[in-house]
Amino acid sequence: MKKYFLPFIVLTFFIQCKTTPQHKQGLVTDKAMVVSANPLASQVGAAIMKQGGNAIDAMVATHFALAVVYPQAGNIGGGGFMVYRDSTGKSIALDFREKAPLSASRDMYLDSLGNVIAGKSSVGIFSVGVPGSVAGMVEAHKKYGKLPFKKLIEPAITLAKGYKLTQKDANLFNEFRVRFEDNNRFKTIYQSKLNWKKGDEIKNPNLVKILERIAEQGNAGFYEGETAQLLVDEMQAHEGIMTLEDLKQYKAIWRKPITFDYKDLHIISMSPPSSGGITLAEIMKMIANYPLETYDFQSLKQIQVLVEAERRAYADRAEYLGDPDFVKIPVEALLAQEYLKKRMQSFSFDKASSSTEIGAGLEKLPHESMETTHYSIVDASGNAISVTTTLNSYFGSKVMVKGAGFFLNNEMDDFSAKPGVPNLYGLVGNEANSIAPEKRMLSSMTPTIVEKNDKLFMVVGTPGGSTIITSVLQTILNVSTYEMSMQEAVDAPRFHHQWLPDIIKVEPQAFSDDLIKKLEEKGYKIDNTNAPVIGKVDAILVLPNGKLEAGADSRGDDTGAGF
Ligand code: DON
Repeated sequence: MKKYFLPFIVLTFFIQCKTTPQHKQGLVTDKAMVVSANPLASQVGAAIMKQGGNAIDAMVATHFALAVVYPQAGNIGGGGFMVYRDSTGKSIALDFREKAPLSASRDMYLDSLGNVIAGKSSVGIFSVGVPGSVAGMVEAHKKYGKLPFKKLIEPAITLAKGYKLTQKDANLFNEFRVRFEDNNRFKTIYQSKLNWKKGDEIKNPNLVKILERIAEQGNAGFYEGETAQLLVDEMQAHEGIMTLEDLKQYKAIWRKPITFDYKDLHIISMSPPSSGGITLAEIMKMIANYPLETYDFQSLKQIQVLVEAERRAYADRAEYLGDPDFVKIPVEALLAQEYLKKRMQSFSFDKASSSTEIGAGLEKLPHESMETTHYSIVDASGNAISVTTTLNSYFGSKVMVKGAGFFLNNEMDDFSAKPGVPNLYGLVGNEANSIAPEKRMLSSMTPTIVEKNDKLFMVVGTPGGSTIITSVLQTILNVSTYEMSMQEAVDAPRFHHQWLPDIIKVEPQAFSDDLIKKLEEKGYKIDNTNAPVIGKVDAILVLPNGKLEAGADSRGDDTGAGF
């Protein structure tokens, strides 16, 4: 009897594992949740909802809290996009993207020979676009907010008076010390200590003053008066071009989101001036013609189909996409079923397609330290918000406004400084994304909301520059096709292709040696050494029982909070 017992147990265990895979779940809450890059910011957003605030109120509170505790990307000196779906299923998008100053010009980053001046669009005062975040928060709150605006800034003010660093915060401030020194005419608060450690307290009294002003005066507390003057003083100290008029004129713009179907899902994503929604839609509509569910997760065939669709969609991105208020974007033509079917006809499983010659010679995707941040929110009534916001690189231009305690973005680098010349993310662009006064630079940010059976299913988004779109794609597929939990889907390894350079960028260890060999035999070039991580996805999944599951990316300090 005993002899058979052990094999029986082993067999039973094996069958259970096979039939009921153990899913590693993220935080599960009953009805309300915030997932963001920082635990303090998530707690702030959740607390606001606990006090009766709705998703928009939580968004405003989380956004300003991130501007304090996540200064590498959380911001008031940058911009972003919001996709909102209310509990009745109505959706809308808000564009609070930065824009080019009034005196910007097409060739402002070129030398007299017409060559791009290295670094001019990406570091220092010339890289700064007119910030949009404050206008975005004020506008969203004006339309949908429930609690008083002032109350929503209070938690950020408290944090700016002193909060404790995580290990990752401390490492980052230490790493960037020299760059802060190089780009500022005074000692920023982040240079007040030589070696930051976990648990150290950091205080930002100048930012307290600015936040109090915004709390009292809304837009005028940032775009006019003393704050605007400090910002323009900073410009003038470095001979920058932004003026008081630029700030006064900035407006956040309501947009119609990009919506499309993928199998049994309905996707709501960001419209131009972000390329996110259109590029995601092109990719998903191309891959919908393949039986993805019969290909294993990150198997040869699955990778090939995704990479080839990505290659084609990113090629279109480079040619056609830009600020819709300046260029005509052929949205319908790009998303037409027939067009996308035809687009994939040149692909065969036998051999990698080849990206065009333009940009050839680039060996690797540049890995500049980059940072954006995404947060996802669902409130107790079922309203959902997906926001991606950024200064572009870590700490943006690295220029802090003296006396104001916040960093300015380096978003001008998202324009195409010269057709065909790659930006920080290796992305090339064309006329559609050339610089013009007051034009918004093309983005890859892809805040997205997914419906299933007409009901809220997922809220998702991520930082990662050009890799944002493909990280959102993989996260949705991981849940919908590969039946992962939200947390597993977010943590799963990722890969990326963007047409040029013609390389599959892969997280280290994601692909086995054997898989890499097989892909190389087909003609694909793999780079699995350049980027330690691809994206930091923060997402929320509505479970079949109506509860919410957080997917808080374990690549960072990302955390879910709710009730
Ligand atoms: O708008 C964009 O596409 C970029 N400025 C985003 C930058 C970014 O995601 C950096 N984060 N890793």
